[in-house]
Amino acid sequence: MNTLVIAAAAMAMLATLTLAQDPANEWLGYATATYPQGTKITRAEAKWQVPADPKVPGLFQSPWFGIESTDNLNLIQPVNPWDGARWYGMTEYFQWSPENNRDSQTIEARAGDTLHGTVVYDEATQSYTQTQNNLRTGQSTSMVVPIQKDSNGNYKNYDHLWVVYEKVPIVCGQLPASGKVLFFDIEIEFDGKLVTPEWTTAFVVDKCDNRAQLVNSTSVLLTWNP
Ligand SMILES: *[C@@H]1O[C@H](CO)[C@@H](O)[C@H](O)[C@H]1NC(C)=O
Repeated sequence: MNTLVIAAAAMAMLATLTLAQDPANEWLGYATATYPQGTKITRAEAKWQVPADPKVPGLFQSPWFGIESTDNLNLIQPVNPWDGARWYGMTEYFQWSPENNRDSQTIEARAGDTLHGTVVYDEATQSYTQTQNNLRTGQSTSMVVPIQKDSNGNYKNYDHLWVVYEKVPIVCGQLPASGKVLFFDIEIEFDGKLVTPEWTTAFVVDKCDNRAQLVNSTSVLLTWNP
């Protein structure tokens, strides 16, 4: 490597260190649920129907919900990927630093199935157990995620929940033909109490009109123009 290449690599690394966190640069529309600072999510769950197949194949993508640490570097997410040709369900843990991605075993899913994801805190083991369950087949998959400590040696606090459509299409026909997915029966406990959190909506990449909209305190609708 010449020095220019080394400098470029160092700069790329710096960019990674400063910019790499959620909301990630491949998210489209999303909603965020929060509660007063300092509280912790102790349980969360949501259901949704697997969207219609995309008309144009090839895009790896997923609607999902997940909970995240205050610093936006640790994501625990029941996901519903379309691998470019078919839907499936699983749970995933993504840690930005040091980077670590874990996927559970997958379960079958097809358009119209209802998936039910849950995330539950266990204080004794300082971990979360997350599950993804297909209500049509009864098949489920799960994963235990230990809570990472911060640089002061304290366990990180998971204090917000996302509902997200992720991965940016080249053409909008790569998104599901139904143009929507409704997350419903959303329940979020903070410090052991079922609460009505504060919801906000936003988007990262502005593509195919992909947006999140709060239907009511327990439902979030993601829509797009396929
Ligand atoms: C919220 O909206 C969903 C989806 O339209 C509906 O099924 C549910 O009954 C609504 N809940 C309340 C509390 O209004």
